[in-house]
Amino acid sequence: MSLSIGIHDLSFATGEYVLEHTTLAAHNGTDIGKYHVGIGQESMSVPAADEDIVTMAASAAAPIIARHGGDRIRTVVFATESSIDQSKAAGVYVHSLLGLPSACRVVELKQACYGATAALQFAIGLVRRDPAQQVLVIASDVSKYELDSPGESTQGAAAVAMLVGVDPALVRIEDPSGLFTADVMDFWRPNYRAAALVDGQESINAYLQAAEGTWKDYTEQGGRSLEEFAAFCYHQPFTKMATKAHRHLLNYCGKDTDNDAVAAAIGLTTAYNRVIGNSYTASVYLGLAALLDQAEDLTGRSIAFLSYGSGSVAEFFAGTLVAGYRDHLRTEQNHTAIARRTPVSYAEYRELHEYSLPTEGGDHATPAQTTGPFRLAGISGHKRIYETR
Ligand code: COA
Repeated sequence: MSLSIGIHDLSFATGEYVLEHTTLAAHNGTDIGKYHVGIGQESMSVPAADEDIVTMAASAAAPIIARHGGDRIRTVVFATESSIDQSKAAGVYVHSLLGLPSACRVVELKQACYGATAALQFAIGLVRRDPAQQVLVIASDVSKYELDSPGESTQGAAAVAMLVGVDPALVRIEDPSGLFTADVMDFWRPNYRAAALVDGQESINAYLQAAEGTWKDYTEQGGRSLEEFAAFCYHQPFTKMATKAHRHLLNYCGKDTDNDAVAAAIGLTTAYNRVIGNSYTASVYLGLAALLDQAEDLTGRSIAFLSYGSGSVAEFFAGTLVAGYRDHLRTEQNHTAIARRTPVSYAEYRELHEYSLPTEGGDHATPAQTTGPFRLAGISGHKRIYETR
């Protein structure tokens, strides 16, 4: 019998602050309907000056280590497209903050918003080779576009940590995967830029082409039929994208594309992304968390995942909810992570957006802002200094 491997635990964290789209709309004169309905976003997380992908990642993963210990974790894979260093993996800082064993490999993985899915699939391969080990997969990103650009309304920040192992308590990941890669310039961030560049319409089209391509390959690999899925977790740079993607897929498969069919398939997956904003590679797994926290019992049901990363690489795969999964959810913790954020004014958001760490190599303390468990205390001699609060 083949091993059952998948997501044993899932925990997420987000930034200290939140910018309401009503605040952004009041600043730039946009009709709020464009944000609330047109792109399907209500607010977006904004990290404090002493938060980054490392502090969010450690905050997301700490409850997992508290529940399961770290003794079986022999690999940490940190997926991000908002990396803080060209050489050192951000996961090494997290490994240290969490006190994980030294007998552990830690690497960073990048392919836009697809990175965490690559990490999950690689983790499954490692566990299959050595079922005694667990892999800590972390997706952590800060989505940042230029002020006053069309992308500004689709920013956000979050980290998702997943413990991957045999006999998972939440979701068993199934073998067939539909894959798709195409060389497109829909979204990218050259090394010399802090904010991403995006061609919004190109990105939507590239995403839809990728959805089609992965589905075609998924069916050729012997995957399930569309009707077998209880829900679809799509990558959500803005939640309306999930609606567009599902409608496109239904249409491609010759199915009815009425609003009820789309809402039934994706409705529950958008709740967290709608208020957190774009969390890049974490977003598809925030979709999973939102679904599991709100849905009726889905034991034995299959969930579809469509992970898309601009540039572009995409993967369609499935997971099945295992018996008893509801006893292992972190619903209250997840609601607290969202509710604890402090709203910021437009001026406060703008100041945070423009804040950057000095680059001349001196000693600099960061403003003490976060109330989370970890903080970036400063930078000294080009070295980041983290602390547990
Ligand atoms: N009420 C309701 N809907 C409204 C509206 C209003 N008052 N005004 C506009 N809309 C709708 C538009 O019809 C459009 O809907 P549609 O796409 O279904 O046609 C939607 O709101 C967006 O309007 P648009 O004019 O296209 O907005 P924009 O030029 O500001 O761009 C994005 C929106 C999402 C393309 C842009 O924010 C972006 O590029 N974000 C980055 C996306 C990304 O990260 N991609 C890479 C990863 S996949």
